[in-house]
Amino acid sequence: MAQHRGYLRVLVTFYLTFLHLTFTASYKPVIIVHGLFDSPSDFQLLLSFINETHPGTNVSVVDLFDRTESLKSLWMQVEGFKRAIYPIMQNAVDGVHLFCYSQGGLICRALLSIMPDHNVDTFISLSAPQMGQYGDTKYLKWLFPQYMKSNLYRVCYTQLGQDVSICNYWNDPHHRDLYLNNSNFLAVLNDERLHPNATAWKRNLLRIRKLILIGGPDDGVIMPWESSMFAFYDDNEMVMDMTSQPVYLLDTFGLKTLDVRGDIVFCTMPNVSHTNWHSNRAVFDTCIAKWLT
Ligand SMILES: *[C@@H]1O[C@H](CO)[C@@H](O)[C@H](O)[C@H]1NC(C)=O
Ligand SMILES: *[C@@H]1O[C@H](CO)[C@@H](O)[C@H](O)[C@H]1NC(C)=O
Ligand SMILES: *[C@@H]1O[C@H](CO)[C@@H](O)[C@H](O)[C@H]1NC(C)=O
Ligand SMILES: *[C@@H]1O[C@H](CO)[C@@H](O)[C@H](O)[C@H]1NC(C)=O
Ligand SMILES: *[C@@H]1O[C@H](CO)[C@@H](O)[C@H](O)[C@H]1NC(C)=O
Repeated sequence: MAQHRGYLRVLVTFYLTFLHLTFTASYKPVIIVHGLFDSPSDFQLLLSFINETHPGTNVSVVDLFDRTESLKSLWMQVEGFKRAIYPIMQNAVDGVHLFCYSQGGLICRALLSIMPDHNVDTFISLSAPQMGQYGDTKYLKWLFPQYMKSNLYRVCYTQLGQDVSICNYWNDPHHRDLYLNNSNFLAVLNDERLHPNATAWKRNLLRIRKLILIGGPDDGVIMPWESSMFAFYDDNEMVMDMTSQPVYLLDTFGLKTLDVRGDIVFCTMPNVSHTNWHSNRAVFDTCIAKWLT
């Protein structure tokens, strides 16, 4: 009898431990960084998708640099997002997932580069101009009505221009020298413009487990859309894929290492316009849901 009670106690202990594990070993927290002209309210549908497929996930949509504030220089935004995100990471013993949309994808890549102790498991880059932007869009017309893609370099590659976020990742393939000399964000992040912390930044970025790149040909804003996949124009405006990019070949910031490790996942979806990526159920089911573990 006493022996039975002993067994029972062991069983109950096992059962309680199991219950405890199932309820606490849950999904990692998700941190969302929005894009140009967005704010947290744009992610309502995404939040409901996550709640449905991964109930209990603690999702933080960082409420900073909303709407026109998102035009501020990216390094300034990176500092702000870092302060907001750091405590969330520290609360997450098993790490977090970083979900970053559009311009936010560049902010996140910078965060991952400058934070030596980040604990990001999976970095989801949702239609982000990772290799920069070169195209006429309605945003550009609104911001700089006098300019087109062919002459925007005159504004963007100046000290004043670099105070505006979109100039920070303006990548004019016909003015490489000016880009290299004046882009104080993308060229630095890519280590195309050499800087002393490049080795540390590469090591920091490589702490992530997976990089998920999502984009598609009907985006309409990211130009070329393949920039979301780390491809970009050459000087004839032909799109060269990621593995032909000098930053890849020279592995300046860790892109090749990640790829060789097998840790870059590409998810290309047709028929999704730029402002729909985060609210499209097919994109969520095909490209996102399986990573939110
Ligand atoms: C998540 O889903 C549950 C069940 O459908 C619902 O009761 C709850 O309000 C939802 N929470 C959020 C934050 O959407
Ligand atoms: C969700 O995460 C935030 C940031 O770490 C934390 O303050 C909050 O308490 C968490 N919420 C729950 C319900 O665990
Ligand atoms: C870039 O900077 C270098 C060194 O300061 C300078 O010699 C060169 O003329 C600059 N190129 C352009 C296109 O501004
Ligand atoms: C390099 O890192 C040091 C120490 O973290 C920092 O003070 C400095 O501003 C960084 N330099 C650049 C160019 O980011
Ligand atoms: C493309 O998307 C639109 C609107 O989201 C939808 O109505 C249409 O059926 C889609 N077409 C294809 C070929 O998937």
